[in-house]
Amino acid sequence: MTMGWHMMLGFSPALFGCYIWEENHSYQMLRRSKACVINLPTVDLVDTVVGIGNCHGADVDKFQRFGLTPRRATKVAAPLIVECYANFECKLIDASLINRYSLFIFEVVKAHVATSPKYPTTMHYRGDGVFMISGQNVSYRRRFKRVNL
Ligand SMILES: Cc1cc2nc3c(=O)[nH]c(=O)nc-3n(C[C@H](O)[C@H](O)[C@H](O)COP(=O)(O)O)c2cc1C
Repeated sequence: MTMGWHMMLGFSPALFGCYIWEENHSYQMLRRSKACVINLPTVDLVDTVVGIGNCHGADVDKFQRFGLTPRRATKVAAPLIVECYANFECKLIDASLINRYSLFIFEVVKAHVATSPKYPTTMHYRGDGVFMISGQNVSYRRRFKRVNL
């Protein structure tokens, strides 16, 4: 599924909070398997990102329909998407907010990240069918307190 509503909840261990609507096929799959892979696409995949969000895994094999390549993960049963810049293998570590908020809390148990480009052109969902495409990068590293880096 395509997901725009997510946030980091911790760095070490790396935690990720995801809002997943209960009508999604992914919702029940995640409750059952307690694991997933979160794939980070780049802007060249925008049609695929929207297409995947417009159909249900119960009706269609999305890897086949969108010409994506699955690769075996190392720590979870769900496959990685080869075409994505980064893939995060995740385990559900806290299910206590699912019933109330549809909020799944995952721990990243293995990360796969391409080494180039350093700053991939990613898309960020703003809502109402609009994406923001990542642009210029400005480094303020020297001004940062070390603990915040
Ligand atoms: C750009 C975009 C962002 C989306 N973000 C979310 C999200 O954060 N949470 C969610 O539950 N559904 C989100 N959706 C909707 C799901 O991707 C959609 O319902 C999809 O059909 C679910 O697939 P599934 O039934 O195979 O799980 C989003 C869709 C799009 C196009």
